[in-house]
Amino acid sequence: MSTTKKIFLLPGDGIGHEVMPAMRKVIDWFQSSGRTNFEISEGLIGGSSYDAYGIPLTDRTLEQAKVSDAILLACIGGPKWDSLPFSLRPERGILGIRKEMGLFANLRPAVVFDALVNASSLKPEIIKGLDVMIVRELIGGLYFGEPRGIENSLDGRRGFNTMTYTEFEVERVARVAFELARKRRKRICSVDKANVLESSIVWRETITALHMTEYSDVELSHMYVDACAMHLTSAPQDFDVIVTENMFGDILSDLASTLTGSIGMLPSASYGETGSSGRRPVIYEPVHGSAPDIAGKGIANPLAMILSFSMMMRYSFAMNENANLVERAVQNVLKAGVRTCDIIEKDQTPVTTNVMADSVVKELQHLAQISD
Ligand code: IPM
Ligand code: MN
Repeated sequence: MSTTKKIFLLPGDGIGHEVMPAMRKVIDWFQSSGRTNFEISEGLIGGSSYDAYGIPLTDRTLEQAKVSDAILLACIGGPKWDSLPFSLRPERGILGIRKEMGLFANLRPAVVFDALVNASSLKPEIIKGLDVMIVRELIGGLYFGEPRGIENSLDGRRGFNTMTYTEFEVERVARVAFELARKRRKRICSVDKANVLESSIVWRETITALHMTEYSDVELSHMYVDACAMHLTSAPQDFDVIVTENMFGDILSDLASTLTGSIGMLPSASYGETGSSGRRPVIYEPVHGSAPDIAGKGIANPLAMILSFSMMMRYSFAMNENANLVERAVQNVLKAGVRTCDIIEKDQTPVTTNVMADSVVKELQHLAQISD
């Protein structure tokens, strides 16, 4: 291996404290078998950071994140911190790290695994083989627009937010989406609310212009966000890449991942711009949240976290063989009927987080042996 890659682990909150150690078992297998030589460190973010330091994101975590080659984050938040002032809530930790690292492009795949086609709430024929990639703008729009706040008015308190998009912001995320579409089925659907919102008019016109000048080989369509929500539930196979603004992407990606019946299986990635050091800041994380309802029970599905690790190896470090190995191991384990409670089918007995991770490690060992 040429250089040692620094990876930074942020378990966060809730089931993060279960799925991250489970994923560590997979990392440990790669490290001890000599296939990787990562330098690994771990930090706090979200509620766990608040509990230790009184804030959801410390300078130390941020600095460590910035000098790492890739970050693996589990999930943040939970009812324990719900009554905190806004600026101290766990969510501010994740929003802060996204903003500070400039992670403007969030890639959220919604994929149906063959072994899990019956786990969806939709009919198998509608979702079999589903493979949609949602590219969500991550550091603009309503989430970050100014002015924002809560003020007094004659009608009582008034809360307000602003949705803004500049051509620059739209173009850089659209470029990521077009490039991805080129490597996939070459179809992109841009989602907005251009019949109502000015920010969406800029969004739509910028994407149309970019398409004409640089990406006319990709098929582009536009859809309003409400229509897109309907279409995703009735005919999700029509989509290849969806590109959309921050808030719409938040909602649609939850919808799309739920359709797959395997939200506990889906990894995601958030990218920034490559810096002068040649390093591209990126966080890999499961699509799922901190699942307070099952946290602490040891039953969460660790596969999204494990697949986030393989996504990191593939996309940040071009370790394709290692990534293939993890993905094959996961598929085989599922085929063998090993299931956590979220992906259980009738007649199956659910396994714990640790048993699932151990099964993946065992399968890795098996696959490595038969290929040697
Ligand atoms: C997500 C989450 C976050 C978001 C929260 C935790 C701030 O829902 O990653 O989708 O809204 O972006
Ligand atoms: Mn969300």
